[in-house]
This record gives sequence, C-alpha cells and structure tokens, in this order.
Amino acid sequence: AERELKTEHLQDDAGGISRAADLLRSGALVSFPTETVYGLGANATDDRAVARIFEAKGRPHFNPLIVHLPSVDAVAEYAELSGVARDLALAFWPGPLTLVLPLKPDGPLSALVSAGLPTVAIRVPAHPLAQQLLEAAGVPVAAPSANPSGRISPSTAQHVLDGLSGRIEAVLDGGPCGVGLESTIVGLDPEPTLLRPGGLPVEALEAALGGPMATRGQDAAINAPGQLTSHYAPNARMRLNADTVAPGERLLGFGAVEATLNLSPSGDLVEAAANLFGYLHKLDADGEAPIAVSPIPDHGLGRAINDRLRRAAAPRD
Ligand code: TXA
Ligand code: MG
Repeated sequence: AERELKTEHLQDDAGGISRAADLLRSGALVSFPTETVYGLGANATDDRAVARIFEAKGRPHFNPLIVHLPSVDAVAEYAELSGVARDLALAFWPGPLTLVLPLKPDGPLSALVSAGLPTVAIRVPAHPLAQQLLEAAGVPVAAPSANPSGRISPSTAQHVLDGLSGRIEAVLDGGPCGVGLESTIVGLDPEPTLLRPGGLPVEALEAALGGPMATRGQDAAINAPGQLTSHYAPNARMRLNADTVAPGERLLGFGAVEATLNLSPSGDLVEAAANLFGYLHKLDADGEAPIAVSPIPDHGLGRAINDRLRRAAAPRD
C-alpha cells in the first residue's frame, strides 16, 4: 500500500484522546493500545472506514474483525449475549477475551466486520486508554492488530509507526502493552470452544466453566480465517524447541540459558508473553541470522506463546 498520510502521534492525555475519538467518528484509521496488543481501529458502522483497515494492512482477504466496546452493557445493540457467553463476559470483561456471538440481525455494524458470517467477534478491553477512547468515540470500533499483514504484532506505538506510518491517520500512544499477546478467542457453537489461545489462559476459562473446553484445530480455517498461514513472521528463519544453538544462530531464550535475548531468565510465562513481540521486532531489526528458540512450557500463557512461535516459524509463501 502507498504511504501518503501524515500519521499523527497522539499522547495519553485529554487532547490526545478527544482527537483520536474525533478521527474515529469521522471515518479515519486510529491505532490505539489495548492490554493485549495495539489495535488498528475504525468505526465499525462505517463500510468505507472498515474497508480501509484491510487496505492499510495489505490484508489479502476480508477476514472478520473484532469489535471493541466499552462495556458489557454496550453489547446488546450489536450481538446476542446470553447463557454461557454471558457468564464468561461477566467473569472476564473487561479483559483479554474475545467472544464470537450471534450477530444481531439488521444491526448497525458494517457487513465487512463479520465478513458475511452470522456471528461477530466482540471484546471489551481493560486498558484504561482504550476504555476512555471507546467511551469518547461513542461508536463500536473494529480493530485487528496494528501490523502489516503477516508481520509481527505491535506491542508499542513505535512498532505501529514502523509498520504503518503514512497509511493511517493516527496512533494513540499508551506505552508498552501489559499482556503482549492477542486476546483468547472463544466461540459458542453452542458449547464454548477455544478458537485461538491468547492473553487469557485456557485454565482460567476452564475453571470458570467448571470443566475442560473443546478446541478447534488449526485446520478449521472457516472459524478462524487468517489463522492458518505464516503469521507474526520475522525475516529470519526460526527453529523451535532448541536445546542447543548451532553456529551462526541467535538464541531467543527462556529460563536459565545464555541467550541473545531472554524472554524470561526466571522462567516466568507472564513476563515472557509481555516480551515476545518486542523481542521478535528487535531480532528482526538486528539482521537475518537464523533464530533458535528455547522450549517454552505449554501451559498458562505458554500455550499462546507457543501458538505464535509456531506461526512465526511456519513455512512462508
Ligand atoms: O487482542 C486482540 O484480539 C487484538 C486487539 C487489537 O484487540 N486484535 C486482534 O485481531 O488480534 P485480529 O484481526 O488480528 O484477529 C482476530 C481474529 C481473526 O483470526 C479472525 O479470523 C477471528 O478473530 N474472528 C473474527 N471474527 C470472527 C467470527 N465471526 N468468527 C470466527 N472468528 C472470527
Ligand atoms: Mg493479527
């Protein structure tokens, strides 16, 4: 895509928030922080604004987008929230959980948001700046992660500018994201089903549900389009579960190892999640030498970390 706009770098203050809200209402693209990653936001009721998200990201397909709302109460205008879905919403919103809900027929959302599906993905983010922006904007905000398609997700405003400067009207700077991984996505069909591991550990969902949750496999492209191909990719080749480092390789470490960068020397998965995308961006900026990655335990946030690492290491087209 062309880079011709002058992207405003808005600060975390009343002026920045009201400017960002005005821009969103007027159909502009505004990146904003959530506790997971930075989103690339547009007014979800405005077809043209939503279409521009795909253009700015260079997304080849109209994958459905997540709609961001300021509160649980705001959901009823757009989607049906009942039963187990409502229980999960009350337990975990605001927070890093996205629920795929039945779309309210004849509602105000652009059809591009749900890519023609009868469902819509909804999330109430916990980040205070996201909350203030959504309140001030007064419109539902569709937002994928604010990175060019197929690239590493952004956990700082600078990552957003590196990837999208000149293609979006503004970025609202809230500093680094606390969680650092995208939200956990749960579908209800009608049993709660894990569609994407993310910032809310599956164990927390299962504790709330009182039992194990179904998982939709990686091959179910229909329910999570855009989940199959190489994603979150740095330029360098990546090798996972590396117990040893080959000559010329850089090590993205975890735990007590000598590493080029260590996600968490103490083996803390929360710290590792928060560092993951930032460290991938750093390794990307520092050359093309192949990257070996230490084994990461596959529980708690480790499940989402391993999911993102597998995509980063997947064969490229
Ligand atoms: O943390 C996050 O979730 C971030 C922040 C900005 O909220 N957003 C994000 O959006 O990661 P994105 O577009 O990168 O991922 C959204 C995922 C996609 O894989 C999409 O296929 C899935 O949600 N999705 C959206 N609507 C859906 C629907 N109706 N049914 C099934 N999957 C859906
Ligand atoms: Mg993304």
